Amino acid sequence: MKTILTLLFAIIFSTVFSQQKSFKPGAIWPDNNGVHINAHGGGILFHKGIYYWYGEHKVAGKNGGLAMVGVSCYSSRDLYNWRDEGTALKVNEIDSLNDIAKGCILERAKVIYNAKTKKYVMWFHLDLKGKNYDAARSGVAVSDNPTGPFTFVNSFRPNAGYWPVNVQPFHKKPVASTVKEKYCGGKGCLPAPPDSLNILGRDFKGGQMARDMNLFVDDDGSAYHIYSSEENSTVHISKLTDDYLSYSGQYFRVFSERYMEGAVLFKRKSKYYIIASDCTGWAPNAARSAVADQIFGTWTELGNPCVGEGSDLTFKSQSTFVLPVQGKKDTFIFMGDRWADKNLIDSRHIWLPIKFNEKGNPILEWKDEWSL
Ligand code: GAL
Repeated sequence: MKTILTLLFAIIFSTVFSQQKSFKPGAIWPDNNGVHINAHGGGILFHKGIYYWYGEHKVAGKNGGLAMVGVSCYSSRDLYNWRDEGTALKVNEIDSLNDIAKGCILERAKVIYNAKTKKYVMWFHLDLKGKNYDAARSGVAVSDNPTGPFTFVNSFRPNAGYWPVNVQPFHKKPVASTVKEKYCGGKGCLPAPPDSLNILGRDFKGGQMARDMNLFVDDDGSAYHIYSSEENSTVHISKLTDDYLSYSGQYFRVFSERYMEGAVLFKRKSKYYIIASDCTGWAPNAARSAVADQIFGTWTELGNPCVGEGSDLTFKSQSTFVLPVQGKKDTFIFMGDRWADKNLIDSRHIWLPIKFNEKGNPILEWKDEWSL
């Protein structure tokens, strides 16, 4: 009896005291098994009292940038302690020609819940196996459960055959042959304006490019996909269909030629905000922020939201999500990735509280440790 009691006490003691009670940005973040949370470029769904964290399952070593496993899911009630729920969407290990074949690039997955269809809908940036970042597609998967398994539905380029709401007359002119060629995707490798400005025209028929991405559901239930398009030069905000499974054809170009990546859209006090990064691969850079009264704009840039030491590199991180904390008024968490480009599985999660100044602009400051 004594032995059983001692054992019971030891279990209760270790459970209580291994519970995490604070965020430690940049530190190893152990899950319920003591393993660093493997959900990178992630995002969070809050549903029926539980937070679900989805993200890229990275592997150690040289294949770190490729999807060898799929999209991970973790669950939590308090945001500090996360339980590994396994792989929500698995890559296809059998068919190497499948859109989500093992070894493809599958990044920045996000999940939203559709109240009408009662489905959990996942969107992600997809690039096909062996084709580097050329395909620049959006992928969609669905599930009846938040933890999965998710079933892959389709992958495509956004809005083929549709012009954005704010299309300009020159976009509709014949596209110069130089613009039809493939660009490397970075700044400085585009031809000079005005041709550089018409990647939209080049991709009109086949669909627009979509890389770094996020989802946002507005108060009226309309969902939007926000992504780096036009060789990463310009962000598009696209309204989804009511079932959240495809594009409605209604979209808007924002921050033209500003090369924003990691864009996150959130809403506070009826205003829309975007926090994004510059376009420098796995290397960190200075964040940007912007505000608008309506989701399609006009968007006004507010500059770097970070202040203090490390602000010029977003505290060595890149935005991936902004989490409105449930039940805590006006509480938002910035989620970023500190990419370990040589061993991406070791990338660290940078979660910081967002403050808002007297104008309502978001402000980020470094904290070694903090709690809600
Ligand atoms: C980053 C992007 C990441 C990943 C990486 C690859 O700029 O935000 O999601 O695509 O480039 O170099």
